[in-house]
Amino acid sequence: MDNRVVVITGAGQGLGLAFARRFTQAGAHVVIAEANQTTGRAAAEALRAEGRSAQFEPLDVRDPQQSAALVDRLADQRGHIDVWINNAGISRLGPAETLPRSDWDDSIAVMLSGAFYCAQAAGRHMLARGAGVIVNIASVTGMAHHHDRAAYSVAKAGVIALTEALGVEWAGRGVRVVGVAPAVVLTEMVRATVEEGQGTLEVFERRTPLRRLGTPEEIAEAVFFLAGDEASYITAETLRVDGGWVAYQLF
Ligand SMILES: NC(=O)c1ccc[n+]([C@@H]2O[C@H](COP(=O)([O-])OP(=O)(O)OC[C@H]3O[C@@H](n4cnc5c(N)ncnc54)[C@H](O)[C@@H]3O)[C@@H](O)[C@H]2O)c1
Repeated sequence: MDNRVVVITGAGQGLGLAFARRFTQAGAHVVIAEANQTTGRAAAEALRAEGRSAQFEPLDVRDPQQSAALVDRLADQRGHIDVWINNAGISRLGPAETLPRSDWDDSIAVMLSGAFYCAQAAGRHMLARGAGVIVNIASVTGMAHHHDRAAYSVAKAGVIALTEALGVEWAGRGVRVVGVAPAVVLTEMVRATVEEGQGTLEVFERRTPLRRLGTPEEIAEAVFFLAGDEASYITAETLRVDGGWVAYQLF
């Protein structure tokens, strides 16, 4: 990963920040592309304070003009974008029959349309160079569904389909598109889920055959592998990093 340029959306905190640590540790330059300017800026500064190479760039993934402009800016500044990680996400939970339209629209806009717009912008740049990897962060919730998560489930199922569609379309032109589907990892998103009464950590642990939550570092390791040259024959694939969650039937 030495000197590779890795863009991570929503990397101001949580999983995205763990990805940023893993890639910079291996010598990559990381771009924290984040809608929250406070956390985004702080994350890049923290990484630089640790001696890593990182910059913050404001990005709302819902706006395709912003992602296209960011790709152009980085291509000018750095010459190349090697890896783009679609990680930005939100969690809008509630019964399907009363889910506000705004929760549905926002979920699809951030996690599905946002991932597509970013992949499109980064993909154009990568296809022109004949090299690059796009990593989409999906979820086990896009594969195994449970109540109160209709918008999130559908957005993540769409992300898994997007990984296959783009992976197939761009396979012959040097660009791999891969995905990672985590189960539950304790981040701000999951803390909020628990606070909303949408599950407890004990239930999540009991539901996982490995009997514990995943760590951000364990998810980062899978993302790092898939983005690297060692995964050169893997494309159009979403890897579950879920402690056995999806395979488990009995509860
Ligand atoms: N934590 C888990 O258990 C878990 C499990 C499966 C999948 N995921 C997925 O992993 C990803 C990261 O989740 P997390 O747990 O770190 O959550 P998080 O809430 O800690 O981080 C999400 C980040 O995305 C950013 N973001 C939100 N909307 C944005 C937008 N429009 N443009 C740019 N950035 C935006 C937020 O500011 C935040 O920094 C998400 O896609 C999430 O769905 C998380």
